[in-house]
Amino acid sequence: MMRFGVEVPAAEGLRRYPVIVGSRALDELPRILSRPGGPSRLHVVSDRRVWARWGRRIGAVLSKAQLPWASSVVPAGERSKSARTLAKLWRDLVQAGCDRRSWVLAFGGGMVGDLAGFAAASALRGIEFIQVPTTLLAMVDASVGGKTGINLPEGKNLVGAFHQPRAVVMDLDLLRTLPPREMRSGWAEVIKTAAICDARLFASIEARRAALLARDPESLARVVAACARIKAGVVRRDEREAGLRMILNFGHTLAHALEAARGYGGLLHGEAVAIGMVFAARLGELAGASRHGTAERLERLIDAFGLPTRLPKVPWRPLLDAMKRDKKRGPAGLRWVLLRRLGAAQVSDAVGWSAAEAALESFAGAGRPERA
Ligand SMILES: NC(=O)c1ccc[n+]([C@@H]2O[C@H](COP(=O)([O-])OP(=O)(O)OC[C@H]3O[C@@H](n4cnc5c(N)ncnc54)[C@H](O)[C@@H]3O)[C@@H](O)[C@H]2O)c1
Ligand SMILES: [Zn+2]
Repeated sequence: MMRFGVEVPAAEGLRRYPVIVGSRALDELPRILSRPGGPSRLHVVSDRRVWARWGRRIGAVLSKAQLPWASSVVPAGERSKSARTLAKLWRDLVQAGCDRRSWVLAFGGGMVGDLAGFAAASALRGIEFIQVPTTLLAMVDASVGGKTGINLPEGKNLVGAFHQPRAVVMDLDLLRTLPPREMRSGWAEVIKTAAICDARLFASIEARRAALLARDPESLARVVAACARIKAGVVRRDEREAGLRMILNFGHTLAHALEAARGYGGLLHGEAVAIGMVFAARLGELAGASRHGTAERLERLIDAFGLPTRLPKVPWRPLLDAMKRDKKRGPAGLRWVLLRRLGAAQVSDAVGWSAAEAALESFAGAGRPERA
């Protein structure tokens, strides 16, 4: 089991909270919950898939905490990250008897974490919450950093709050039931984190690839913990996304455009990020910002984890339009996150729109997307 503290900015100043990573990490929950200042009651939020597989397990753990608790189980899938489900959670919390000393426990992937975290941030003017992520993506990315929120019909993550959890408990056993495609999607964010921040981590993922793909708990624990630490470190230095945090968006400019142009559904987020990273790495080399060979090595690792590296069929115009609307626009055009080399990223305003478009055309290459 790996235990460490991360320190992140919160309304009252820096907040330090524990992160626990390992096999059977769930067994640590009773101890965390019964510390002084712990909750008077608990409200677990989960989705139906996670609950069907792991509801009894978490129930058994919570019964040891000797705390009153209740649960809200929402349908699985991004559509539950909505104002409607949020309003239902507010009412569930109140009807279950929660007060300002109650805590929410988010038990699920990033969808549940964002939704339950925002319910905690807003219900009763804000109560504490704990993250128990059940997907690789949620462990290495969504559960750390304090961003919570919901989607609107107008777009993703348009309403939310920064709300830091009291603890994050990452039980790697939970990943046993995660479908392979969801697991791969998480690997994309792992590779991203190493590529932008940590050359040694990148090399160790290359070296331990087989063990990681076999979900060896010890290798997984090391990598998951490293990613959580890195993300917390980036957030700590830049909670409100003024600058540094932007590097976490490496690969996401094209990824978001792909997701939008394909109408969300065809690609998982991590798959879109994988393609976006390959493109951004090539763009970095074309722009003379990256060390030669960076893109090739990155692409090899992405491919080794079974992730896509080529542009899928996608209507071309909508793709370009979606990219132009990217929120990371600088005064001079799109703002790209480029790799200087593996383990070091930079934000660049120096790539003009026509250069990016040309690079995308050549990236599309043989598998040229449909031109609609
Ligand atoms: N807050 C942040 O900083 C942040 C960062 C990245 C992503 N996100 C958000 O996270 C969400 C995506 O997260 P996700 O990829 O975890 O998706 P998800 O929560 O929708 O989970 C993916 C699927 O896996 C299932 N599942 C989860 N855990 C399982 C398990 N252990 N066994 C079997 N099935 C399981 C879920 O029911 C779901 O069907 C998006 O809403 C995204 O916006 C937030
Ligand atoms: Zn992402």
